[in-house]
Amino acid sequence: MNEKLAAAKSEKLAAVKGMNDILPPDSARWEWLEDKVRSLMGRYAYRNIRTPIVEPTALFVRGTGETTDIVEKEMYSFEDKLNGEPLTLRPENTPGVVRAAIQHNLTYDGGKRLYYMGPMFRHERPQRGRYRQFYQLGAEALGFAGPEVDAELMLLVHDLFAHLGLRNVRVELNSLGVPAERQAHRAALITYFEQHSELLDAEAQRRLHTNPLRILDTKNPALQALVQGAPQLLSYLGEGSLKHFDSVKALLSACGVSWSVNPRLVRGLDYYSHTVFEFLTDELGAQGALCGGGRYDGLFELLGGKPTPAVGWGMGLERVLELIKEQGQTQTEQTPDAYAVIPDAAALPRCMQVMQALRGAGVSVQMHAGAAEALGSMKSQFKKADSSGARYALIFGADELAQNSVTVKALRDGSGAQQSRSLADIAAWAATLQSTTSTFAGQTCSAGPN
Ligand code: HAM
Repeated sequence: MNEKLAAAKSEKLAAVKGMNDILPPDSARWEWLEDKVRSLMGRYAYRNIRTPIVEPTALFVRGTGETTDIVEKEMYSFEDKLNGEPLTLRPENTPGVVRAAIQHNLTYDGGKRLYYMGPMFRHERPQRGRYRQFYQLGAEALGFAGPEVDAELMLLVHDLFAHLGLRNVRVELNSLGVPAERQAHRAALITYFEQHSELLDAEAQRRLHTNPLRILDTKNPALQALVQGAPQLLSYLGEGSLKHFDSVKALLSACGVSWSVNPRLVRGLDYYSHTVFEFLTDELGAQGALCGGGRYDGLFELLGGKPTPAVGWGMGLERVLELIKEQGQTQTEQTPDAYAVIPDAAALPRCMQVMQALRGAGVSVQMHAGAAEALGSMKSQFKKADSSGARYALIFGADELAQNSVTVKALRDGSGAQQSRSLADIAAWAATLQSTTSTFAGQTCSAGPN
């Protein structure tokens, strides 16, 4: 055992810095969001893909890009204990999806529209909206070259945000053209920055010959004027790239999505070509990027596959939930329909049979559970029933059970009304116990798919 492990033996253990527990009642907001996502993905005919969280390190070095911040400094990498294989906790999932598509020849019979939700890992400085483990929703359309799929993917984000009730989210677009256009622009950028090399900070100096495009992305206020005057990639685009970009813009406008072109939007990953985009908010401080993506027509080849055009995006779910909260939408806790009060543990077998039947009929029932020997006084059981938020208490008294019935007590309407119900017609009264709708985030979500 190493020293740190030995020292930690007597300490209280806590989650790793920048990695969060998601606890009830907050987890209900996550489930609500995930349900919305699944239902919307179905409407756009995107299907779920699940790839491993651990991938070969080489996948990200080659895919995400050797000179990106992610690969240079943010990956959780380690060696397989047995064979020393370099492995990494996925910092993003686009290379993983492409790897899986190549490995299983997913696009053999045409394009595929895929989506995923899951944890990603980046060793960044934690702050509001930026975590070391965070959840991303991603959509990837593989095997489609046309601008209509770029637009479809952005419409999907726009639609999801509308379903979530989000306001004031803006869309920024740019085009990174094709590799030859980027090369010409890169040469012009290097010449320009070399002419002003005394103004560059250390980070920009370092990037100058490795990834000069990323200098345009700098947050350093002292460099803003210099960057404003730098050659713009858009003026290096040829006819084909401009046509693609114009079509994307026109399709978005035709579908009522407002956008603006940001010529400095370059994105922090190396695989992009043609369209890149971000959905941004000013209401979350520094971490205002809710969603980012673009076209990555060269990635399949880079990872050893056949040339396959592709486009996609990734969305930070913590940031989306934070914005929902920030915009004042309220949340209602998940509560059971009924709480089972059990005066005598001897009645447990019969009570549990009844509860199973009720659950089978769609009622959510929380069972009172106590210490090994005793379930607790009626008073304490009613207290628990009340704090559970259930609308009804089911009282399984011995006398009533002997007559094959149970008392149902209303807990929320102020009446405290009690009724005896026969256990012979469970299905009939189960329907009256169920809450068919619950409100969440200021909207009504029906219990079934919507
Ligand atoms: P990305 O811009 O690196 O792109 O991440 C996408 C989104 O994930 C960001 O806009 C942000 O909302 C969220 N995000 C990123 N890092 C963190 C963090 N440390 N904490 C919380 N949220 C974070 C990608 O990952 C690409 N794979 C997107 C893509 C898919 N491009 C094409 N297909």
